[in-house]
Amino acid sequence: MSSSLPPEAFGELNDGISEVLFSAEDIAVKVHQLGQIISHDYNGRNPLIIGVLKGVVPFMADLLRTITIPIEIDFLAITSYSAETRERGLVRLEKDLEESIKDRHVLFVEDMIDTGLTLNYLLRNLRAREPASVEVCALFNKPRRRLIDLDIKYKGFDLPDRFVVGYGLDYRGKYRNLPFVGLLKPEVFQPGNNLG
Ligand code: IMP
Ligand code: MG
Repeated sequence: MSSSLPPEAFGELNDGISEVLFSAEDIAVKVHQLGQIISHDYNGRNPLIIGVLKGVVPFMADLLRTITIPIEIDFLAITSYSAETRERGLVRLEKDLEESIKDRHVLFVEDMIDTGLTLNYLLRNLRAREPASVEVCALFNKPRRRLIDLDIKYKGFDLPDRFVVGYGLDYRGKYRNLPFVGLLKPEVFQPGNNLG
């Protein structure tokens, strides 16, 4: 039995979706696979798993429960100043880590890598703190939008160059609570207007 509610249960949120790209079950299978690989690769290394708020919350919560080795977690929160400043990779750290990462094995978890500018900024920031290692795990990835070449060791799904919502991904702060990922109807989505 699936533990997720059906899309119809989400009423007006689901009404904004034109197409489901990944069902809750598709996502659960992929997350489980990632968790198994991570458990294997990090065995004996006590990794610190770092998530970027807020979009990472559903993915992080599910991923952690598929990892079967000892780990610790921490979070960062960032704000992109605006659509244009994000294009230039300018983000502000709203909440810093609580743990020192010096000499730790860091696994950086992201919901989505789009242009890669945000991740690039955060990785530079983290590497300056002298961790033993840093790798990236991203559930969704838009390879055709990439502006910076980044090495993503643990990848979930590749996406086309389309705006998607659900499973943590928002449009103007909403839709994060959908258990699936889908496209927004054109009448709902106004490009260049997602500062959520
Ligand atoms: P970038 O890689 O610096 O371009 O930015 C990645 C961030 O942009 C993600 O963490 C999301 O917050 C946001 N983002 C990019 N594409 C989408 C999308 O299709 N839906 C929702 N948010 C998105
Ligand atoms: Mg966002």
